[in-house]
Amino acid sequence: MMRLIYSLAFSLGFTEWKLKETPVEIFKTVKDMRKGHALDLGCGEGEHVIALAKKGWQVTGVDFVRKAIENAKNAAEKSGVADKTEFLVGDVARLEKLKLSEFDVAFDIGCFHLLNEADQEAYITGVSHVLKRSAIFLLYAFTPRKQGRREVGFYPAELERKFSKFFTLQKCEERTYWRFPANWYWFRRK
Ligand SMILES: C[S@@+](CC[C@H](N)C(=O)[O-])C[C@H]1O[C@@H](n2cnc3c(N)ncnc32)[C@H](O)[C@@H]1O
Repeated sequence: MMRLIYSLAFSLGFTEWKLKETPVEIFKTVKDMRKGHALDLGCGEGEHVIALAKKGWQVTGVDFVRKAIENAKNAAEKSGVADKTEFLVGDVARLEKLKLSEFDVAFDIGCFHLLNEADQEAYITGVSHVLKRSAIFLLYAFTPRKQGRREVGFYPAELERKFSKFFTLQKCEERTYWRFPANWYWFRRK
């Protein structure tokens, strides 16, 4: 269902959730790291993958909407970073199917909070398997609110518990994402 909704949104060009720019939180997080390999989960049309590739990182983006991934590949080509980027059609809750290599850092802007409980668990395990030890996982997710009849988002303590098997929560900062309250989370792979 979610895939259908997003496929439709990308086909119609209804991508209201997009941020104007790649968040500074991403750049600040990698600033002092040796340039390596980064992973963007739910990368959409790849803007943040491309922005980080322009800074010299090798970046892989995963999204389950084929159209978004095609657009991302074209944009990377136009931006001259095709050789620094890789875009894969895939489910972030089934990362093992993608045979990914190891990453120095991973980030997620607005994807994890879309998943159901079972997929959240599979996602966390999958991300933990592809991140190097001590690597940072940066997550931008809504805080709880009603969306129609659905409750979306998390409180920090809830997310800390969900990730605690593989990650330590290092920092959490409040922001407004799109027009809703959200938090940035910095997790470190145990
Ligand atoms: C709100 S958009 C954010 C896109 C992008 N991160 C950005 O900042 O523009 C959520 C993205 O997650 C993707 N997505 C949702 N569930 C997914 C899943 N299970 N596997 C892969 N991608 C997923 C959607 O296709 C969409 O591109």
